Amino acid sequence: MPRGLILGVESSCDETAAAVVERGARTLSSVVASQIATHARYGGVVPELASREHLRAIVPVIRAALAEASVTLSDLDAIAVTSGPGLAGALLVGITYAKALAFAQGLPLIAVNHLEGHIHAVLLQQREAHHEVPDTPALALVVSGGHTHLYAARPNGGAWHYTLVGRTVDDAAGEAYDKVAKLLGLGYPGGPWIDALARFGNPNAVPFSFSQIKTKVHLGGKAPRTKAAATAPIAAMDARFLFSFSGIKTAVLRYVELHGLREGVKARIAYALTHPHPPQSREEALALCPQPVLDLIASFQHAVVGDLLRKTFAAAESLGATRILVTGGVAANRELRERFTAEAARRRVDIAFPSLALSTDNAAMIAAAAWPRYVAGEFAPATLSADPALSLGTVPAE
Ligand code: KG4
Ligand code: ZN
Repeated sequence: MPRGLILGVESSCDETAAAVVERGARTLSSVVASQIATHARYGGVVPELASREHLRAIVPVIRAALAEASVTLSDLDAIAVTSGPGLAGALLVGITYAKALAFAQGLPLIAVNHLEGHIHAVLLQQREAHHEVPDTPALALVVSGGHTHLYAARPNGGAWHYTLVGRTVDDAAGEAYDKVAKLLGLGYPGGPWIDALARFGNPNAVPFSFSQIKTKVHLGGKAPRTKAAATAPIAAMDARFLFSFSGIKTAVLRYVELHGLREGVKARIAYALTHPHPPQSREEALALCPQPVLDLIASFQHAVVGDLLRKTFAAAESLGATRILVTGGVAANRELRERFTAEAARRRVDIAFPSLALSTDNAAMIAAAAWPRYVAGEFAPATLSADPALSLGTVPAE
């Protein structure tokens, strides 16, 4: 009987990652090489630089993942790779290398959707913590730098079936975090900075109202022409479960200008370039941001988390889901975890998050998501290529 060892490879954005996972349930190794230092000075991911960095990192990262797992290529049963969505050039590095390895070793290649990977990060985490977790239907919120999507996830044999029930019509929540952090002169990616600084501000200081987070129902069901919304029509989706995070970013910008909070931005940019991590104490936070800026940061986060929370729980209720999975980079957020956990307890529904390391991009989630496909013999053809706009699941019938 095969051990069920899958090598996962992930290179869809700015993390080069490889991991060895046994039967989708036990992580033997998970190595992530972050490119944050490369992109930080540009305040965002530069696609050309991402591809170059993946090329540099892919071989050592895969070697490290095998070494850490104490296995060799000949111990593996399959190689899994993210085929999309993501940056085309970045995806191609992982795909090309995984293909070559699979061909050389005579191993099957499994293509994994990055979004399904994020969902499996929670399932993997649960399996590792509790061993036997029954696969029951769930509502999954994938909330990251590229996505804010709600899926009804149903187990079907060992595999999962997904229906897209809600999504952002413009920016992803993580994108709003990154853009707001950038305009305030904080580090990249913005999520961890805002997360850390928000603790020292008053979340009710700036009343961001939800009319600023409008669902664009007036688009008549057509997907707007924004990058994040280029896929999947929204006509079939309940407008209550659509998100929009571009308005709040503009509202923050307007607030900054109106209240003269531009001062200090240059000093913060200089600080962020020399400090990889955000301040952790109140004194350090105040040295970097005056109290009104901390209040603005806390209010922004409070509004975003509140909007995610309300729509996620409303969707769960409407679908009768008693299990909620929250995953993706923004799921690492402290306030989000606290408020979602409290709300779940109040409503008596199960809630689960990945560990912090599994929240952001990694390859263990890719290897875990590949396991049901391995069992089903669903292998990728030799012609596998990158699909930058790959979507997950079906859209409800109109
Ligand atoms: O899942 P991920 O690593 O990559 C994508 O697939 O996009 O998510 C990255 C996103 C970034 O926008 C980052 O700012 C955000 O997740 N993020 C956070 C936190 N940690 C990362 N957002 C809020 N709070 C955090 N602690
Ligand atoms: Zn991701």
